[in-house]
Amino acid sequence: MAKRNASYVCQECGAVYNRWKGKCEACGGWNTIVEESASTNPLAGPAATRPSRAKGRIFPLESLSGENSKEAVRTPSGIAELDRVTGGGFVYGSIILIGGDPGIGKSTLLMQAAAALANGGHRVAYISGEEAIAQVRLRAERLGLADAPVELAAETNVEDIIATLSHGTPPALAVIDSIQTMWTETVESAPGTVTQVRGSAQALIRFAKTKGTAVILVGHVTKDGQIAGPRVVEHMVDAVASFDGDSSHHFRILRAVKNRFGPTDEIGVFEMSDQGLREIANPSELFLAGRDLAVPGTAVFAGMEGTRPVLTEIQALVAPSSLGTPRRSVIGWDNNRLAMILAVLEAHGGLKLGMHDVYLNVAGGLRIGEPAADLAAAAALISSLSGAPLPPNTVYFGELGLSGAIRPVSHMQNRLKEAAKLGFTGAVTPMPRKDRGERLALTPSPISHIADLVAGIVASRPRGKVQHSLNEG
Ligand code: TYD
Ligand code: MG
Repeated sequence: MAKRNASYVCQECGAVYNRWKGKCEACGGWNTIVEESASTNPLAGPAATRPSRAKGRIFPLESLSGENSKEAVRTPSGIAELDRVTGGGFVYGSIILIGGDPGIGKSTLLMQAAAALANGGHRVAYISGEEAIAQVRLRAERLGLADAPVELAAETNVEDIIATLSHGTPPALAVIDSIQTMWTETVESAPGTVTQVRGSAQALIRFAKTKGTAVILVGHVTKDGQIAGPRVVEHMVDAVASFDGDSSHHFRILRAVKNRFGPTDEIGVFEMSDQGLREIANPSELFLAGRDLAVPGTAVFAGMEGTRPVLTEIQALVAPSSLGTPRRSVIGWDNNRLAMILAVLEAHGGLKLGMHDVYLNVAGGLRIGEPAADLAAAAALISSLSGAPLPPNTVYFGELGLSGAIRPVSHMQNRLKEAAKLGFTGAVTPMPRKDRGERLALTPSPISHIADLVAGIVASRPRGKVQHSLNEG
């Protein structure tokens, strides 16, 4: 019997204390600390506590090419948007954690992936700890996949699952829906606690590595969007992806957050239909659909998501504030970047925004991390403040420096090509780095300073418009 000693574990961040506290000092969460017994299987503990055995084998790196390098073997799911995010398919023996809000479509996506792989002749298991087999079957039926040879099980005990999966040829893919419902006999805590989640994940990872099965763990997320349970699970797995979307919209975005075997900047875009998730090969069309033309405060940003150009609409609202401290609110973008752009617009663009509430929204629920969006955000802000609509057939991209200079960004040609393909005829861009002699898909109007952008937009302002607080000195 392993030694039993109680410890107090924060259910948000996994910090461990030796007595109960009301507030976790590590993550600041209140009432998140729960007593867990830390008795575990001694073999599951850190290697340092075990007597040393010279058993691990060491290989020279160059001897591992070709036949021996099983790690590189991938099984594509056949769902292009999913394969794009994983980097070309599920890697042999890898373990992927997929997080997302309840009801966003994780089970649907993974059932479709499982069926696609099974139809391709691979052994695939789908283990549900949340739904009964009949429910899983019902979903498969709704997706038109009821006759796919996927092995289904409703099971929550990790040892039983591993025993079942180890029977016969190991599956190419095993989906565990969800890791929070799993429990292992080596840990005494209740299912769903940090220690259980960690213990179960460890056991499944060991299984994946020894048998070569690619294992997908579904993870629930907390209200602030983090995968519930310890962050350590994220460190243990090979890849972490988040599946999100706006519940008021139909489309869903799968985004790699961490990937040991592929890119982390690719996104997969899907649309939830009544027959499951449909791939969206050209997301720009979707994000720009229903765009309001010729209203002040919207700019189209030609962005890059990984290797793929994606056009999105950035909306801004600048309105006089009745509050002592005006509101700044951002959806889909970084708060600090907005603060920086506002500061640059004040310092170098001659705009007065100190008495205005500012709202910035990336339409369609996309989250933009690229600094190249600065120029589009700035254009939307200037347009909203001045009341001058931006030309509807123009895209914007460029990074803003603190000096007000517009800095060049990568993939200029790809961005312009995508814009031209979607019928845009103009682009406000940084000065090209140097003339490489290539013909651009669309003739850009390069600018070098934020003041040029302000001047251009203000000049197009309709006559008689109230001057707001544009400072044209
Ligand atoms: P689900 O995959 O169960 O979500 P998760 O596993 O992330 O909790 O998806 C549930 C939602 O998706 C539910 O609100 C219904 C919707 N849905 C469709 O719109 N079409 C479909 O074909 C399916 C299977 C689900
Ligand atoms: Mg589910």
